Amino acid sequence: MDKEFRIIPENEPERQYYFIELAKKLREEKENETGRPLTYHVTTFGCQMNARDSEKLTGILEAIGYTCEEKEEEADFVIFNTCTIRDNADQKVYGRLGYLHGKKNRDRKRVIALCGCMMQEKSAVEKIKKSYPFVNIIFGTHNIYKLAELICSACQFEDTMVIDIQDGSNEIVEDIPSLRKYPFKSGVNIMFGCNNFCTYCIVPYVRGRERSREPEAVIREIEKLARDGVKEVMLLGQNVNSYGKGLLRNISFAELLKEVEKVPGIERIRFMTSHPKDLSDELIEVMSSSDKICRHLHLPLQSGSTRILERMNRRYTKEQYLELALKIREKIPDIAITTDIIIGFPGETAEDVDDTLDVIEKVRFDGAFTFIYSKRKNTPAEKMPDQVPRDLAQQQFDRVLSKVQETAREMAGKRTGKTEKVLVEEKSDHSEGFVSGRLSSNLVVHFRGDESLIGQIVNVRLDSCKNFYYIGERV
Ligand code: 5AD
Ligand code: SF4
Repeated sequence: MDKEFRIIPENEPERQYYFIELAKKLREEKENETGRPLTYHVTTFGCQMNARDSEKLTGILEAIGYTCEEKEEEADFVIFNTCTIRDNADQKVYGRLGYLHGKKNRDRKRVIALCGCMMQEKSAVEKIKKSYPFVNIIFGTHNIYKLAELICSACQFEDTMVIDIQDGSNEIVEDIPSLRKYPFKSGVNIMFGCNNFCTYCIVPYVRGRERSREPEAVIREIEKLARDGVKEVMLLGQNVNSYGKGLLRNISFAELLKEVEKVPGIERIRFMTSHPKDLSDELIEVMSSSDKICRHLHLPLQSGSTRILERMNRRYTKEQYLELALKIREKIPDIAITTDIIIGFPGETAEDVDDTLDVIEKVRFDGAFTFIYSKRKNTPAEKMPDQVPRDLAQQQFDRVLSKVQETAREMAGKRTGKTEKVLVEEKSDHSEGFVSGRLSSNLVVHFRGDESLIGQIVNVRLDSCKNFYYIGERV
């Protein structure tokens, strides 16, 4: 018989489609052994970027033909897409791994894969090799698209741990399958990585240098999403305001937004995250004159003290932040501004926290994520001498938290009695017969309605504000 030849394609994504086919065959063989479908579960830790990466992982697993299993411990193939932004994110992963290992599978050995930010840290991988040897596959943030290839390797070498970590990448692999969590909204990566090197932050080390996707690729993806029924897109990047650097065509983030606005079927556009140092007047202008760009801006402050901001390498002062935020409030009066704040950064005193409270008081944030500083390996802040004791940080944290809750409550309440558009997202857990959705400002609203409304944009009167959400009525 003539020998059959198979040439593994060199270029992506063709190479991955080859491995998806191979992994499909391997899955079918295993399924024939036990007579039941092979199942998967993807567990996501961390931010919107990871959530989007998980949709890509899910897309590949579905293309291989695995069946989704809702319960993590029941699945044959489990992936943890990890986060390492603060130490407690790492601890969660170790905790879950231990728990999962303790739960035996039915009739088959469970395959466990770990990927994402935490895997880009050498010390974490060493710890897993030593203390969690039952893990089968480890990969990082730069090669999510290689999942099928890694599954094939793991099948070939059953009792080994397959590890594939790249230190960095300039390559952006397009057209990888993905399965969206919601049919009506989707995240869209517009850039990867970060060049800012805030001194506390591990992201530039684990996500690599900043790389923007070509605008044509972004628009093509959004057009396809719109054809599939998506109404809302969230453009994702660590610092969307510096979008476009290094691309063939000179294009700013504001210009990209204008192109996204033109895509028929897209009714709402959100984006995350904005670095205050790069937010342009052009962007404010484009936002204020658009009826598709949502009235929400996430603008991380981190600290209100110029002295601490300098030590954080944020490259703006308290006054510059205030000027920017107040300008945005003036030009776009109905906008919601939310923020991130870190408490207990090395050297932070009660007076520095007073400055942070002052900014909260003046900007009147609509919401804030507040974090206690967490020391990350090999970041400049790790080596700063004046680390703040945990109990002191906690005291300051409590002051900041009660202040942001006060302004967020007040800002949310201002919409009482108004009628606004809501994109209905799901069945509400608030009351039987209710659904819930989001305003343009990102506030959640619960109102009476049936599930057929999910995915639609409807007018809702905001009757009563319950601290951080509304109960309303469809009008
Ligand atoms: N400790 C605490 N919070 C951090 N963040 C980033 N790094 C750290 C750290 N080492 C916060 C910042 C950032 C958000 C995503 O996480 O506020 O904006
Ligand atoms: Fe981290 Fe700063 Fe980059 Fe945000 S801008 S990801 S906080 S280094």
